[in-house]
Amino acid sequence: MMELNRETIPQYLRDRQGEISFFDTDVELLSDEIGDGNLNFVYRVTDKTNSERSLVLKQAPPYIKILGPDYPLPSERLTYESRSLEVYNQFASESVPTLYYFDSDAAVIVMEDLRGYRLLRDDLIIGKVNQSVPEQIGRFMGCVHSQTYTKNLDETLVNKYQKDFANTVMQSITADYVFTFPFTEHETNYYTEGLEGEVNQLKSDLQFLEQVDELKNIFLTVQRGLTHGDLHTGSIMVSDETAKVIDSEFAFYGPVGFDVGLFWANYVLSYFSHIDNIKVQSKIKTAIIQTWKTYTEQFKMDSALKSRTLQIIFHESVGFTGLEMLRRIIGAAHVKDIENIEDIHQKLCVETAVLEFGKILIKERHKITTVDEMVDLL
Ligand SMILES: Nc1ncnc2c1ncn2[C@@H]1O[C@H](COP(=O)(O)OP(=O)(O)OP(=O)(O)O)[C@@H](O)[C@H]1O
Ligand SMILES: [Mg+2]
Repeated sequence: MMELNRETIPQYLRDRQGEISFFDTDVELLSDEIGDGNLNFVYRVTDKTNSERSLVLKQAPPYIKILGPDYPLPSERLTYESRSLEVYNQFASESVPTLYYFDSDAAVIVMEDLRGYRLLRDDLIIGKVNQSVPEQIGRFMGCVHSQTYTKNLDETLVNKYQKDFANTVMQSITADYVFTFPFTEHETNYYTEGLEGEVNQLKSDLQFLEQVDELKNIFLTVQRGLTHGDLHTGSIMVSDETAKVIDSEFAFYGPVGFDVGLFWANYVLSYFSHIDNIKVQSKIKTAIIQTWKTYTEQFKMDSALKSRTLQIIFHESVGFTGLEMLRRIIGAAHVKDIENIEDIHQKLCVETAVLEFGKILIKERHKITTVDEMVDLL
């Protein structure tokens, strides 16, 4: 596979002028690495004489970028990202970057540059809670989930989605890091000193472990709609008006509540990190409720089936919210919102509260029936 770099990217794009035709021929191009992620290379390519003209190029090497070639990971992950981007552009184009070009041999995606956008996570960290974001993301999830939902499609189309989105390698990574490793002795786990008691309590709570197992089983076997698979607040970019979803390399045909759960969990993590700021906390509660409101409005089905379907999705979402919260405290990948808390005593308090709430959501998910009830538990 041809691994691109800053120097070789301009020629790569010129060679494909016929297919991409974004820049005028013969313009001089500048490229810069902008990716701060772990898995892939992300570059911004700009027209040297017109800095307003730019695009983003993402390439997946056949290994994990930050760990290097000794840690293989199939580049096909970008095939799933490009396929999901196509479906998103079909059903919710306002909420994703435009896909300009996909090269499966080189595992390269060329897409719209969301210039001037920020990561949603960074906004939440500084206490900026814009209510139009959960509205837009609720609408995005509702549109995509509903339009790709088994019960809304004929069998041929269901089979096509199942086949196109059989992203088993990435799915099993999530299964390990979200559902398994955090609750076993695993070398990638780490957590703040002082949490041992809580963690051991979780690991020996049989009722809790049974629910984790049930949710893992749902995650691995239920196939209901196109699921982004990594929809945390670092996979959403925002401007003052618009929210856009990126980084769908984990996309699979699965239990759609996994997206709702990850999105909610990352708002809840932010909620606990703002322990001293009731105003921000109250806005986050509203945001969580707002997400479900627009989500359900977008879900198209006849009404009896719709309410049953949404009830199932809701209970699963609540469970997945809990799991995402826990693994962000005791697993391999933590979140900046909490990791940045400097006062170690404060951090421990926040993390203890997160563990407690996550555990409740997982154990009580069948009893929590509305989003207001869930938020009232905060
Ligand atoms: N279309 C885009 N427009 C502008 N910036 C982008 C775009 N796509 C990605 N970025 C920037 O590059 C960063 C990394 O992108 P992305 O999350 O897709 O990469 P990744 O390597 O898959 O990350 P991860 O390790 O989290 O999976 C984003 O956080 C964002 O700052
Ligand atoms: Mg990614």
